[in-house]
Amino acid sequence: VTDFTRTKSLFQLPENLVYLDGNSLGPLPRAAVASVSEMMRDEWGDMLIAGWNNAGWIDQPARLGDRIGTLIGAPSGTVMVGDTLSIKVYQALASALEINAERKIILSDTGNFPSDLYMAEGLIKSLDKGYRLKLCEPEAVADCLTEDIAVLLLTEVDYRTGRLHHMKTLTEKAHEKGILTIWDLAHSAGALPVNVSAAEADFAVGCTYKYLNSGPGGPAFIYLAPRLANKARPALPGWLGHAQPFAFDPEYRPAPGIERMRVGTPPIIQLAALEASLDIWDLVDMNDVRTKSSELSDLFIELVEAGCPDLKLASPRDSRQRGSQVSFHFEHGYAAMRALIDRGVVGDFRAPDVMRFGFTPLYIDAEDVNKAASIIAEVMTKRLWDNAEYLVQSPVT
Ligand SMILES: Cc1ncc(COP(=O)(O)O)c(C=O)c1O
Repeated sequence: VTDFTRTKSLFQLPENLVYLDGNSLGPLPRAAVASVSEMMRDEWGDMLIAGWNNAGWIDQPARLGDRIGTLIGAPSGTVMVGDTLSIKVYQALASALEINAERKIILSDTGNFPSDLYMAEGLIKSLDKGYRLKLCEPEAVADCLTEDIAVLLLTEVDYRTGRLHHMKTLTEKAHEKGILTIWDLAHSAGALPVNVSAAEADFAVGCTYKYLNSGPGGPAFIYLAPRLANKARPALPGWLGHAQPFAFDPEYRPAPGIERMRVGTPPIIQLAALEASLDIWDLVDMNDVRTKSSELSDLFIELVEAGCPDLKLASPRDSRQRGSQVSFHFEHGYAAMRALIDRGVVGDFRAPDVMRFGFTPLYIDAEDVNKAASIIAEVMTKRLWDNAEYLVQSPVT
């Protein structure tokens, strides 16, 4: 059984703050400070360029990819770390479209993260071959899977509402119609049990700065099903995805397997932080995380609904249908979130009216939930959000 008191002690969290935003940016693993400074001093400082070989920097993206693989049901050698999630979405989509070359439609849903949709539109424009992005309502995806669709591009957990798609069922239905699947696991990896192998997902992508706590700007990851690994031609064929990067061949030849999904030089400093974070994940059973996050989020819904009649639940009520976050609609949600942050409860706001709270058992417990709920009730009943100062929008909400 996972010892969540122990995992909580491994994070630096400011006193008197309930941090319900780990679904956006995870907190600092204490060990990351030493891990990053040792890397900088002993490796970058002392080894300089020899660090690529002698400190193993060059293989770090694959090594950490394997460790992330254990959290998402991916076998060793099928996950690569690097770039940002938007880039990995683009890469996966371009490869998938090429494999399913006879078809011209990308299907996604209206709840998908805008960057995924922008990347799809951008790729369609660049290809200029008559591709089209079709969006359906999240509940209607299964009914929209037709034989003219090349790729189904979905985010498993809706970033706004937390609604959870059934990855295995939708992938199976997609495959029945000859559709390839790309799953964005941004709000899944580290939030709930994921098994890309059992679901037979074709591609999966995700980020590490949310539930995997690698810090702001931490790199993304990409999974490629072994059956496609030597078939997928990488869009963005960078030199480190070449079969022999140091042959400096003017002609691109993809490396075997997942190595081909590398693009360029990986962010080694940030990878040192990710490595320290993954050490914590070694102590954790994802089923325990799921059980506890369901308990915490159910408790939160119960307390908030009891204390704040003005907040309307935006997330599925049944925890089995949710990821690891709970959202509420409120007309003055932005101001209300600012008022909460001022009082030590950190969530975030997603336009037009969603107040979002993440539940991350590694460092959030029932005491935090009780405390947060009572502060939210106070802010709502006393209308503490009704303050001109809270209407001034910051660049990041
Ligand atoms: C579901 C989803 N996809 C894609 C992205 C974009 O990620 P990045 O900024 O790392 O490219 C995000 C960012 O939050 C996200 O939540």
